[in-house]
Amino acid sequence: MSDDESLPAGVERRAIGGRDRLATRGEPVYGEPTDGGWRAWDAGRSKLGAMLELGLDTGLSGGESVLYLGAANGTTVSHVADFCGPTYAVEFAPRPARDLLDACEPRENLFPLLKDARRPETYAHVVESGLDVVVQDVATRGQAAVAADNARFLAPDGRLLLAVKARSEDVAADPDAVFESVRAELGGTYELLDEARLDRFHADHLGIVARPKTTE
Ligand SMILES: C[S@@+](CC[C@H](N)C(=O)[O-])C[C@H]1O[C@@H](n2cnc3c(N)ncnc32)[C@H](O)[C@@H]1O
Repeated sequence: MSDDESLPAGVERRAIGGRDRLATRGEPVYGEPTDGGWRAWDAGRSKLGAMLELGLDTGLSGGESVLYLGAANGTTVSHVADFCGPTYAVEFAPRPARDLLDACEPRENLFPLLKDARRPETYAHVVESGLDVVVQDVATRGQAAVAADNARFLAPDGRLLLAVKARSEDVAADPDAVFESVRAELGGTYELLDEARLDRFHADHLGIVARPKTTE
């Protein structure tokens, strides 16, 4: 852990650009402000950053093995790779995946996979099972199903860190109703441990921390 007990080792609050922000050490990726090798982690551009800012109990302590679903151009997953161990970044859209390659270039522990997160069997030969963490931010319909399909990669006490975007499930529905049905569906595979609305940083998003249900 870092000096701030709620943050994993390798993530710190630092004064960068005149204000305190979350930061990790690594090569800059998206034009973010830097200071002495530290790069600001903008919670307004990162659901996982928002979950840490809001004090969710993510269980992250630093050095974890990670499967990251919905890596886009590498904004958040590059910060994850800065403080975690092997990090597999799944993204199915070729355009952002090209930028993701640039984020991977200086990071030996960050592995890009141009794959569909709804088809985990297509990357199961590359991604080991028994991982510590699955981070998911796919902003697509069927977010609970994607999380359930990828539970196979998690260790029994691993963590799912899930950002749910209500509008991706149903643009017209009340977000609370969407979140309730996502919770219910997730409950088939996961035990839900903590959650928080991320609206301060991301409108109509819910952050959820969960672990696989034990099968006894
Ligand atoms: C909200 S963006 C992710 C932003 C990113 N997590 C970050 O914070 O840097 C959602 C991404 O998920 C990707 N995505 C959506 N459905 C997917 C799927 N089934 N498999 C892989 N990627 C998917 C989209 O192409 C998009 O790049």
